Amino acid sequence: MQSPTDPTQKKNGLHNMKGVILAGGRATRLHPLTLVTNKHLLPIYDKPIIYYAIEKLVSAGIERIMIVTSPYHVDDFVNLLGSGQNFISKKSGKQIQIVYGIQNAPVGLANGLCIAKDYVGPDNCTLCLGDNVFEDDVSTHIKNFSGGNTIFLTQVPDPERFGVATLNASGGFVRVDEKPKKPKSNWAVTGLYIFDNTVFDKMIGQPLSARGEQEITYLINKYGEEKAVQPVFLKKKWFDVGTFDSLISAGEYMRKKAHKK
Ligand code: G1P
Repeated sequence: MQSPTDPTQKKNGLHNMKGVILAGGRATRLHPLTLVTNKHLLPIYDKPIIYYAIEKLVSAGIERIMIVTSPYHVDDFVNLLGSGQNFISKKSGKQIQIVYGIQNAPVGLANGLCIAKDYVGPDNCTLCLGDNVFEDDVSTHIKNFSGGNTIFLTQVPDPERFGVATLNASGGFVRVDEKPKKPKSNWAVTGLYIFDNTVFDKMIGQPLSARGEQEITYLINKYGEEKAVQPVFLKKKWFDVGTFDSLISAGEYMRKKAHKK
């Protein structure tokens, strides 16, 4: 594996993109399934949930990924994924690199991303929530990223459960609100975000939200103030696997898809 500062890496267009996958949290809505097992290790049909996020980033050409999880579960992730030996980059034909970051307390997604700060170094990063499953091919957005913040939106029937985007008449980004009681649209911000390196400066002095977390939506709004948010409208299926029903629906969907092949 080349070092991030290896000048030969600059020959490929992705030399400056790292992946970060967040896989912490208590997953209380899935108790007792998650009393011992980390949610992201539960199955969606034939694969652990986290495989979907890893494969999404790897298929977009990302070869270096930090998985951020809790101190209680990091061993399980290492046992399952090791250094990334089961994931081969199509671009280089070599195994990708997986490393681990530990989030001591589940105090928000922005806090989780901050743990990857030194790993990301001077690069850009694609952040994926480990319990989100995307059917859309997002690789061109990752490969062509040129700065600011790209977010991925999808229409949902229950926007109050998510970060909700307000858009202007031409579909441009105005702002995002985290789980608003009265959502201004039904466009949910899904758990995939591309950030340029200024994201870490934007975390300085970040307050805790009413639910006691450092929210990812705060950072998106910071980019919004700079008019640097690019929304992408997803067209295919998206799952946020956090309940018994969504776990089963995602599994059932993937089973049907596998049988169609
Ligand atoms: C998180 C984010 C929210 C986003 C959602 C997508 O919510 O805070 O903005 O819409 O993921 O899955 P959480 O799952 O932490 O409630």
